[in-house]
Amino acid sequence: MESQMLRYTLDKLDKLDYTKVCNKKVDPKFELGAVLRYFDNEVPILFNNVKGYDMDLIGGLYGSRNIFYDLMDTEKENRIHKIIDAIANPKEVKRVKDGPIKENIIKKNIDIIKLLPIPTSHEKDSSSFITAGMLIVKDPETKDIHMAVRRFQINSKTNISTLISGASPHLRELIKKSEEKNRPIECAVVLGYDAEYLIASQISSSKYGLDKHMVYSALKGEPLEVVKCHSVDIEVPAYCEIVLEGEIVPNKKVVEGPFGELMGYYGEVAPNPVMEIKTIMHRNNPIFQHAFPCREEHLSNGLIREAEVYSSLCNVVDVEDVNITVGGGCRLHAIISINKKNEGDGKSTILSALGSSKDIKHVVIVDKDVDIYSYKDVEFALASRVQAGEDVVIIKNCLGSGLEASHVYKGLSDKMGIDATKPLNETSFERAIIPEYENIDISNYF
Ligand SMILES: Cc1cc2nc3c(=O)[nH]c(=O)nc-3n(C[C@H](O)[C@H](O)[C@H](O)COP(=O)(O)O)c2cc1C
Repeated sequence: MESQMLRYTLDKLDKLDYTKVCNKKVDPKFELGAVLRYFDNEVPILFNNVKGYDMDLIGGLYGSRNIFYDLMDTEKENRIHKIIDAIANPKEVKRVKDGPIKENIIKKNIDIIKLLPIPTSHEKDSSSFITAGMLIVKDPETKDIHMAVRRFQINSKTNISTLISGASPHLRELIKKSEEKNRPIECAVVLGYDAEYLIASQISSSKYGLDKHMVYSALKGEPLEVVKCHSVDIEVPAYCEIVLEGEIVPNKKVVEGPFGELMGYYGEVAPNPVMEIKTIMHRNNPIFQHAFPCREEHLSNGLIREAEVYSSLCNVVDVEDVNITVGGGCRLHAIISINKKNEGDGKSTILSALGSSKDIKHVVIVDKDVDIYSYKDVEFALASRVQAGEDVVIIKNCLGSGLEASHVYKGLSDKMGIDATKPLNETSFERAIIPEYENIDISNYF
């Protein structure tokens, strides 16, 4: 459907006046990333003059909450419910025979280095990396689909390495089993997708075991149109931009990294599985999709985690909203507002939130009159509603996030929660207000 994937997204972003166009010749090595980084990856930028390439590149697409809300036809207040509803009620996809992705099929003389404007982002990165590639793998026995964004180090014209983190135990297990049987695994890498596809991809398989294409259909409110790949038995969105088809080679690993990672540190350098590319499909005039590593684009992952924390708190307290912050890598920090009804609600929220994921390291709990997206407001609550001796909870030596440098250094993480809610029925916490402040139209005064 024309309403699916990147082209539709670009039209919509254009109409909403979000996109910047860069006509200047830009080097994909460092310079392009520097331009994206300047805008904190919160502004979509279409580069139509990438040095050495005819292909356009879009970056900075999904780094802003407001862009996500607009693209997904939702708003701050409803986004969590929309995601939970789609996870609970996935919908069928529509299988079609053909689609724009099949406009060009390359089977011979494949050379991704010449074809695709793949950027190198940081000084010590080992190579150029495809950072927004959606890896789709089909389990040859169960036929289950594994689909998630992974990064790909470029090794040669046809060979790329992929990182499968410890947060994806099912796919790791599948690769291990295939290696024991010395059997390759068919796979595809999809580029040029929309916000719903990215959000669906960030759902954790170990938590839900869902078909993420079906979650997409539910999120989008229409069935995802998929076509079969040309050379592998895998379905991909009919309207995406580029698909790399091939197989994960058994028992062949290539050292991957260094790579400027989440939180801006270089991650582990290790031998990782490789994919051999057999076929490339692309639309006419394809647009290459890039995500500047590795902070702001992880917002999609944070949006899913907000829904997960919200759900785990629902049975405990009257939870208002959850902000998994960008400064905490969209994984490590949560600010949570509650409608406090009992004196123990703040501490109970701390326990449930810290226990909901090994990645969450620090949480701050506030009352619902505090804006959890305003650091000024959160600091106001910390300054005026917290007594450290009573309101700070520290749990030492927990399992933490493998993507967090101080945890990697120590092997364990201390977790901390701050209960910044005010006591119930205590008049000294009454906030001074200006009557009718919200209704003032300031333009009448000047
Ligand atoms: C831009 C971006 C890049 C990512 N890169 C990787 C990666 O290289 N390796 C990885 O295992 N996960 C990566 N992730 C996280 C996974 O996509 C995410 O954890 C997903 O939910 C895993 O799905 P699974 O539980 O089905 O395996 C990335 C996420 C984003 C948004």
